[in-house]
Amino acid sequence: MRLPGTMRVNHLGHLEIGGCDTVELARQFGTPLYVLDEALIRRQCRKYREAFVRHGLRGEVIYAGKALLNKAVCRIIAQEGLSLDVVSGGELYTAIAAGFPPERIYFHGNNKSEEELRQGLDCGVHRFVVDSLYELHLLNNLAAEAGKVAGVYLRITPGVEAHTHTYIRTGQRDSKFGFDLVGSVALEATKQALALPHINLVGFHCHIGSQIFDVESFKVATEVMLDFAASVWRETGFALRELDLGGGMGIRHVASDRPLEPEQFVAALADAVRTGVRRHGLPEPKILIEPGRSIVGEAGTTLYTVGAIKDVPGIRTYVAVDGGMYENPRVALYQAEYTAVVANRVHAPADRVVSVAGKCCESGDMLIWDLRVPELQPGDVLAMLSTGAYTYSMAGNYNRMPRPAMVLVREGQADLIVRRETYADLVRYDVLPERLAAPEHLADQRAIE
Ligand SMILES: Cc1ncc(COP(=O)(O)O)c(C=O)c1O
Repeated sequence: MRLPGTMRVNHLGHLEIGGCDTVELARQFGTPLYVLDEALIRRQCRKYREAFVRHGLRGEVIYAGKALLNKAVCRIIAQEGLSLDVVSGGELYTAIAAGFPPERIYFHGNNKSEEELRQGLDCGVHRFVVDSLYELHLLNNLAAEAGKVAGVYLRITPGVEAHTHTYIRTGQRDSKFGFDLVGSVALEATKQALALPHINLVGFHCHIGSQIFDVESFKVATEVMLDFAASVWRETGFALRELDLGGGMGIRHVASDRPLEPEQFVAALADAVRTGVRRHGLPEPKILIEPGRSIVGEAGTTLYTVGAIKDVPGIRTYVAVDGGMYENPRVALYQAEYTAVVANRVHAPADRVVSVAGKCCESGDMLIWDLRVPELQPGDVLAMLSTGAYTYSMAGNYNRMPRPAMVLVREGQADLIVRRETYADLVRYDVLPERLAAPEHLADQRAIE
């Protein structure tokens, strides 16, 4: 199996990431544990930026914080010169708390509240990606109150839907996001944006899907967006200055996945942009992309300790670990596929097939179906690969499970960047009203018994 980033097997036969023995990490920090390979995150950031330079694309790489956001990740992204996309007041707060420069923040979201828009205006985010006419007018009013002009992209639904290896061009209107190209909805929104005094329309945005492996869908989306920009130019005289083509570049979760290298993706995009602007005689806009998963996905590994093992003869062996859907809901939510290795004996012959179960009270709480492994014992450390994106960021406390810790590893050093939740954390926000806290309530219970 190909091990991503700085992963290797050390002289003890243990999995090592960033020069740290994962068996030792599990012992020191406990499990489940998210482990992040810092060098791999930085390498991905650089690959995207270097590809922009190589292809002479004027633009920016914006990290999509929804994939994984905390203060340490914000710092790495800032140091690598990427911008940041946030989709909520909470993500914006995290970025600002980490010292991320607001002039490199792009604020997304299909239903930003008045409070969130104010927060964005107050801290001076660079662009608002506006999703509806309601938001457009609300933002104009709030910017007027604040004596500001908001820099805006309109989110367009380009009618290109990508599904991993394929795409369909649907003219599809059934999406909760953005302005429809069909029926001049997007054109009308553009006209309204241009007329509002506290809105500075700078460009358009689109995002066509996730875990995409082919360049064709991105090329078609670019073509559709430039066709739209050209029609807007003819109708209104507005010349597109910035075009944000979203994220969605796939990663390797299992051996059969064949992700694009950032270089291939940016090369295809540069080609599609140049072809489009030449065809329409448009000035070349600044190009922005928003990779999330492909920056952090393969850099993440989750360590688990094996517990109960249940064999259903002739059917399946369930190996339960100490995590599950509360810290990685992607399998239950999207039937996402992962692979894993036994961290404490990576090279042991994988001569059986088991399914890895979580510990939540749901039959659907499975992490991996049909994984090839050596014989497992309670206490083994299982390392699930490529879990950096949409796991911690989607985690919750189902069954009152405390969320795991996260460590950042690099050159033999492991630093805690998110501490493990405690049981005390779980009840921190519970409030007992006076009438339930009173001792006579307990007496009432006894009376019923
Ligand atoms: C608007 C937008 N941009 C960027 C992304 C990041 O996508 P990915 O993590 O697949 O690169 C998403 C993901 O849903 C998104 O909705």
